[in-house]
Amino acid sequence: MANILLLNGPNLNLLGTREPDKYGNDHLEDIIKKCRKIADSHGHNLTDFQSNSEHELVEKIHLTKNDLIDFILFNPAAFTHTSIVLRDALLAVNVPFIEIHLSNISAREEYRNKSYFSDIAQGCIFGLGSVGYELAVSAACKIIGN
Ligand code: DQA
Repeated sequence: MANILLLNGPNLNLLGTREPDKYGNDHLEDIIKKCRKIADSHGHNLTDFQSNSEHELVEKIHLTKNDLIDFILFNPAAFTHTSIVLRDALLAVNVPFIEIHLSNISAREEYRNKSYFSDIAQGCIFGLGSVGYELAVSAACKIIGN
């Protein structure tokens, strides 16, 4: 059994009501439930953490060693485009991760085209809405299993 951490950055706690034309109608709790079900079906354990604070996300990434986390699924939200701090934290712990975005950040405003994570991620899933989360868990299970 492996431990997967699903990390969500700022404003994703508002999913379901936040700009549904861009981010869909699913609430974060529903997405997490579906992801946990998929992880369970592969015999893996999925924990989750959402924060609006960069510092809390850094601390959670640092704890991945103590928490024996094997794989991270991460939607850094707006920190995607700004956070060298979170990038450095992921490089420091060296836990493989998949970068997820509900919207296609490459097809949006220019300031969203830049990601501080894509080049160090194992893989990236953008623009598929909440289905992207489900695909990311399935991919992580496959990678862990191999
Ligand atoms: C997002 C894309 C980001 O640009 C934005 O700041 C978000 C959500 C997405 O999932 O599409 O908060 O990460």
